[in-house]
Amino acid sequence: MSRITTPYGFSSTAAEVAHGIDLTGRRALVTGASSGLGAETARALAGTGAAVTLAVCDVPAGERVAKDITEATGNQDLHVAHLDLADPASVAAFTTAWQGPLHILVNNAGVMACPEQYTEQGWEWQFATNHLGHFALATSALLEGIGGRYFIDCNETETVDRRTGTLHGVARYALDPAGARRLWTLSQELLADAA
Ligand SMILES: NC(=O)c1ccc[n+]([C@@H]2O[C@H](COP(=O)([O-])OP(=O)(O)OC[C@H]3O[C@@H](n4cnc5c(N)ncnc54)[C@H](OP(=O)(O)O)[C@@H]3O)[C@@H](O)[C@H]2O)c1
Repeated sequence: MSRITTPYGFSSTAAEVAHGIDLTGRRALVTGASSGLGAETARALAGTGAAVTLAVCDVPAGERVAKDITEATGNQDLHVAHLDLADPASVAAFTTAWQGPLHILVNNAGVMACPEQYTEQGWEWQFATNHLGHFALATSALLEGIGGRYFIDCNETETVDRRTGTLHGVARYALDPAGARRLWTLSQELLADAA
């Protein structure tokens, strides 16, 4: 199996990566697309012709971003839907309401270094938002049609024990199958308890 490489580097932009790609007829979903990297990811995907759904907490902010993207790209196929990743009921409502296929899922939303706080299920907020909410989304029926080489690619990536000045490789613990299995099982158990 050959290793996949790309011509892109640290300063490449999303628009450069998406240049020349035609995703007309494809449906993409970007979480946390009302600001930051999510909004720019949605913009780059819209530029390829894909139908893009912005899954956001703040619907009016998402609608402003969608309008701006439509004006900039000419793509009318922009949609905004409410999704609170820290609330399993919101994720369930979102996946139940989704109609038709999904081809691209970008699990972008996240909080970082927030004050210590917990969801009503007692889950630490950052873990609930960044991991559990996306885990629920990614293991839902939404993804039945999505395939890909992501995990295979990771297994072929060089591993590093310590970060050096250069960005390369992944930490060994990220490729630890036992650790991944524990996290998978724990996530399933937590979400089942919340259902
Ligand atoms: N920027 C960086 O240098 C950097 C580096 C490493 C990793 N990342 C990761 O990349 C992602 C995007 O970063 P960013 O800089 O664009 O961050 P950002 O500007 O803070 O955007 C994060 C987005 O996530 C949304 N969000 C937060 N909690 C949510 C929830 N419970 N449900 C649904 N959406 C939620 C936010 O919506 P609201 O604004 O409505 O809360 C916001 O739209 C994050 O996961 C971040 O951790 C960023």
